[in-house]
Amino acid sequence: MTQNRDSIKANNNKLYSSRRTFIKTAALTGVAALVTGVPLASYVIAPSLNKGTGKWIDFGPVEDLNPGSMEMLSYEFMVKDGWLVLPQRGFVWAKTEAGGNLRIFSSTCTHLACNVIWREEEEVFVCPCHSGRFNGDGRNIAGPPTRPLTVLQHKVEEGNLMVFLTV
Ligand code: FES
Repeated sequence: MTQNRDSIKANNNKLYSSRRTFIKTAALTGVAALVTGVPLASYVIAPSLNKGTGKWIDFGPVEDLNPGSMEMLSYEFMVKDGWLVLPQRGFVWAKTEAGGNLRIFSSTCTHLACNVIWREEEEVFVCPCHSGRFNGDGRNIAGPPTRPLTVLQHKVEEGNLMVFLTV
């Protein structure tokens, strides 16, 4: 009988010991997962959430622009989108007005985002997709667009024209 009790007690101690070991192991594993998992997860996930909002693009010497003209200025730069790095290409329209005033128009039509083209002879921007039209000030004058072309922020730095583009 005493031997039986001792045997049961020994079994209970073993059970306790293994339960305690299990809990300790589980707790340590949880802490280890937290310590390594959070930085690892943020390293993996953060780039996919990290999208830029804008970028200053250098279009070269501002003095190269012809006064009184509307000029197409093209650009190409690399954009990081999540884990991908892709080229972004496009163009803007630079209008140099009398007195040196400069306005930069986005080439993106405000209807469904096709690129507008400047027609010098008519002095209008024409959108090839649905025949939207904008005057030389970027104002929508015909077709489906209901908003004017976006005027882009610009500055001149060390003689170079810099334009802020959203990416
Ligand atoms: S996208 Fe320009 S008129 Fe429709």
